[in-house]
Amino acid sequence: MDRIVSEEETLEDNFEQNIRPTSLNEYIGQSEVKENLGIFIKAAKLREEPLDHVLLYGPPGLGKTTLAHIIANELGSNIKTASGPSIEKSGDLAAVLSNLEEGDVLFIDEIHRIPRFVEEILYSAMEDFTLEIVVGTESSSRSIKIDLPPFTLVGATTRAGDLTSPLRDRFGIINKLNYYTVDELQKIAIRTSKVLNCDIDSDAALELARRSRGTPRICNRLFKRVRDFAIVMGNGKIDLEITKLALDKLKVDELGLDETDYHLLKSIIEKFNGGPVGIEAIASSIGEEQTTIEDVYEPYLLQIGLLKRTTRGRVVTEKAYKHLNIPYNETNKK
Ligand SMILES: Nc1ncnc2c1ncn2[C@@H]1O[C@H](COP(=O)(O)OP(=O)(O)OP(=O)(O)O)[C@@H](O)[C@H]1O
Ligand SMILES: [Mg+2]
Repeated sequence: MDRIVSEEETLEDNFEQNIRPTSLNEYIGQSEVKENLGIFIKAAKLREEPLDHVLLYGPPGLGKTTLAHIIANELGSNIKTASGPSIEKSGDLAAVLSNLEEGDVLFIDEIHRIPRFVEEILYSAMEDFTLEIVVGTESSSRSIKIDLPPFTLVGATTRAGDLTSPLRDRFGIINKLNYYTVDELQKIAIRTSKVLNCDIDSDAALELARRSRGTPRICNRLFKRVRDFAIVMGNGKIDLEITKLALDKLKVDELGLDETDYHLLKSIIEKFNGGPVGIEAIASSIGEEQTTIEDVYEPYLLQIGLLKRTTRGRVVTEKAYKHLNIPYNETNKK
């Protein structure tokens, strides 16, 4: 089975390009973030100054990249993109910065992955729009300063905690994206159905929303798979019955948990007596990367109260035992 929850975008996600909202109005949910950004963007335009640098953080698939493009659209600016892992040397970042034009939005995805010694170049670029680079060999090196055109940096990260404070402090606007409500996800499913020209009943959209782990990307992915079932097994229209059947076949349960979530919770219960247990031990016991667990799986399990974080490690909650149909007794109480 393909993973429903995954960190990386696949070719399959090309269809995301078409269903991405392009304006703040079309962007569903995150109302506080939207409202604030709307005001800051308007003010920047009135002042005819670039928008302050924006940091967007939150779990994968909640709409950071989408929002970065919307910011550029709303500003009427061009967007240039780069990603943390592709910036390995100072020269890589200098090349990106020297390519900027006045008013551009520079979107750096996974900004926490820029190496520290490279990151320093960003400080003066963000603060004074200057690029300081060291040229020459060690014995005859000198630093030169180049003026940059005013621009807006939009940084996105799933791990705000990994940013250094000098970098974080240089963002004037910091927004956390939160998991979406079922109601918002239902609207997203209905919007997607219109964009893809594929009908969905409102109760089917609600079911899809319930099982999307608060995440638009997952909602859209599940939509596409349910659509396949509807085409092959029905008349192409997505109704509640087809949705339930498809999601059960995809092994996505009523809370949106997939096989990895089950594996994770069950192994804490079975191998570690429900916890507390450290993240490293969990990672090795289920054969997943620690960062994948921390960034992708754990935040949602914490959010819906199936997992708890304590100073001594992760603990599976009574609610999780109930959900997994495993008897919970007093000795499990931590
Ligand atoms: N508020 C929204 N309204 C409608 N659709 C949305 C919204 N937010 C995200 N989406 C949809 O969800 C998909 C994932 O969003 P996006 O790629 O922006 O997430 P991300 O936060 O950048 O994820 P990652 O951390 O993995 O880079 C997009 O295809 C987009 O269409
Ligand atoms: Mg993204």
